[in-house]
Amino acid sequence: MRLSLRFVLPLLLVLAAIGYSVAPLIDRLTLSWFVRDLDSRSSLIASTFQEPLQEQLAAGKKAKITDFFNRITQDERIFAVGYCATPTAQVLASRSLPAEIRCDDLERWVGPAEHLLPSAQGPLHVAVKPMASEAVPTGQLVVVHDMSFVTRRSEETKRYLFYVFMALAGVVSLVTVIVAQLSWRGWMAGVRALLRGEGLLRQPEVNTPPSLPGFNPIARDLQRLISELESESRARDESQLTWKAETLRTILHSELRGEDVIVVSNREPYIHQRRGERIEVQRPASGLVTALEPIMRACSGTWIAHGSGSADREVVDKDDRVAVPPDKPAYHIRRVWLSTDEETGYYYGFSNEGLWPLCHIAHVRPIFRSSDWMKYVAVNRKFAKAVVSEAKTKNPIVLVQDYHFALLPKMIRDELPDATIISFWHIPWPNPESFAICPWREEILAGMLGSSIMGFHTQSHCNNFVDTVDRFLEARVDRESFNVSFGGKLTAVRRYPISIAWPPDPDLLQKSVADCRSHIRQINDLPPEHKLGIGVDRLDYTKGILERFRAIERLLELNPNWIGRFSFVQIAAPTRSGIDEYQHHEAQVRMLATRINARFDRHGPPPILLKIEQHAPPQVYEYFRAADLCFVSSLHDGMNLVAKEFVAARDDERGVLVLSEFTGAARELPEALIVNPYDADQCAAALHLALSMPDVEQRDRMRLMRGLVAEFNVFRWAGRMLLDAATQRRRSRLTDKPDTLNS
Ligand code: G6P
Repeated sequence: MRLSLRFVLPLLLVLAAIGYSVAPLIDRLTLSWFVRDLDSRSSLIASTFQEPLQEQLAAGKKAKITDFFNRITQDERIFAVGYCATPTAQVLASRSLPAEIRCDDLERWVGPAEHLLPSAQGPLHVAVKPMASEAVPTGQLVVVHDMSFVTRRSEETKRYLFYVFMALAGVVSLVTVIVAQLSWRGWMAGVRALLRGEGLLRQPEVNTPPSLPGFNPIARDLQRLISELESESRARDESQLTWKAETLRTILHSELRGEDVIVVSNREPYIHQRRGERIEVQRPASGLVTALEPIMRACSGTWIAHGSGSADREVVDKDDRVAVPPDKPAYHIRRVWLSTDEETGYYYGFSNEGLWPLCHIAHVRPIFRSSDWMKYVAVNRKFAKAVVSEAKTKNPIVLVQDYHFALLPKMIRDELPDATIISFWHIPWPNPESFAICPWREEILAGMLGSSIMGFHTQSHCNNFVDTVDRFLEARVDRESFNVSFGGKLTAVRRYPISIAWPPDPDLLQKSVADCRSHIRQINDLPPEHKLGIGVDRLDYTKGILERFRAIERLLELNPNWIGRFSFVQIAAPTRSGIDEYQHHEAQVRMLATRINARFDRHGPPPILLKIEQHAPPQVYEYFRAADLCFVSSLHDGMNLVAKEFVAARDDERGVLVLSEFTGAARELPEALIVNPYDADQCAAALHLALSMPDVEQRDRMRLMRGLVAEFNVFRWAGRMLLDAATQRRRSRLTDKPDTLNS
């Protein structure tokens, strides 16, 4: 109603304005018509009177003439009549002739323009018509018409005009309001339907007006446009953002305000260890923890993980929860306890003897035991129960981490169908032929497809995953949108390259590069100008440590002048040492280092300094800053954060990164010297190039790499996933179809 008034009132005003501006025009027009009529009427009267008047004049009967004139003025329109024989003669006229009309002044009323004479009764029209005779060749008849009827008619015309315009305004307004109401309702229904992803696109429901089939392509285009605009604006915003922990917090508050966020990983972010009488809190030096901690701190969520510390049970409450960080609690860890059997089967067995070698092409055969698989299923179920019990709402956001939990997404989905489940696979995904050897391949794929979003580091891992699903499951794979539809659910397969925190912790960069160089050389008994290479890895066969040593051997073979002038420090953190393959690998690494050192022993510094032990981040950063080069030679690696950490450590813009082409990082850091770790000659050449690279070139390469790591840091990795989750949730709310991703 208010809308109608807002619409109709201006319309009425416009019409009234038109009416008022038209009325004087009409007045002027009708007046000129009346003047013309009166003029020709006066001519008619003059010619009618000609004969009788001349007769009376000839007879000299002036009184009769005035009588005649007085009678004529009884006509409703004729106000007065007069006759002037000559300009000097006395006018013969009816009584009513206005005094302004005199014989000596008749010129005033003659001419092309007709003359109006104002009077008390209203305007008078004066016409002077020649009425010459032989006797009086200059005789003129004056006919004065009363024009008050013109004013009366004009008033009437205005009144009629007013009524006509009012009626017109009424009709136009009514039609406009009806049309506006109908189209508004139609549009609103259309827009609402469109936002629900139906309406124009869907078959009409009972009681809803049928949609026009011709509109479907338009609606689809419109929807596509909206989503393109959405993603474009997001891309623009993202590129304008400097991603920090604070940015992540802001996104959480603005995009996912008050949402229930749960992280699930095998490794916990804080481990309580008993050291005699004391309980020590350890933080695993893991990229995953660095990335997810800010999310947890910002949203006070829950992190579910395997309680593996020797004092973990001592510090939890009755629900197995402990608030962390210990100094300033911001979120909870919910610890899940595993028996030795469970840990052996699920962690050492299926995860690390099965899936780990299956996904890494390092030519180590995976071992699949059905007993391990059963433990893997059971432990995944245990974690699923923990997720359900920790969920505060029926649609939490669950971030499932890594290959330890391939089955978890589907298990959570079965219990919490409306949950938003984002899974991230931190290791590579192999091609379908390689994956085919897994006896439980279908179960694993189906488990992962319980996720709303399935994330990998690189596009080629996404491609391999989608190809594998296509090969082994009855699923619909959309290669344009990279969505997989399986069992009526959609999973978006997306690339999220993980990274490190930026800027790096200032404590790690506190010591100057010069100090780091001299200190590290000093503690390793190396001369001050000795060239130094560094490698930092878990002691894992996928890291290519043997290939790295062979490349160093080849360097010294091909360029003997480096013997005694160059050493390579290999920091290798022991890992999964309960597994035969890892024990065997460690032995091989030790043997090879010993052999090479013996081969090039010139009673000076050894070529390889092997340090099989954990090093805390400050020690690692000191080595990074002291080194001339860092060699990452993984045979296959999802990302490899060591490469990015080395770049972050070098705020002096010096140092060369030699990087395996089989790491995810190689896609992002092309300014490194990219090598094939299986090609010892090529690696040796790259090492030689690195050791002799001019400072300017080192700086140019390092600067570009630092720019990339700064921009694509870990907060962006987490933020991108959360933003995608937020978009999915908004869409699900609109379409009333929880956990679907509209393409
Ligand atoms: C590497 C992998 C991660 C994995 C982790 C497990 O860092 O890149 O994907 O989660 O190892 O290590 P852990 O010591 O817990 O077996």
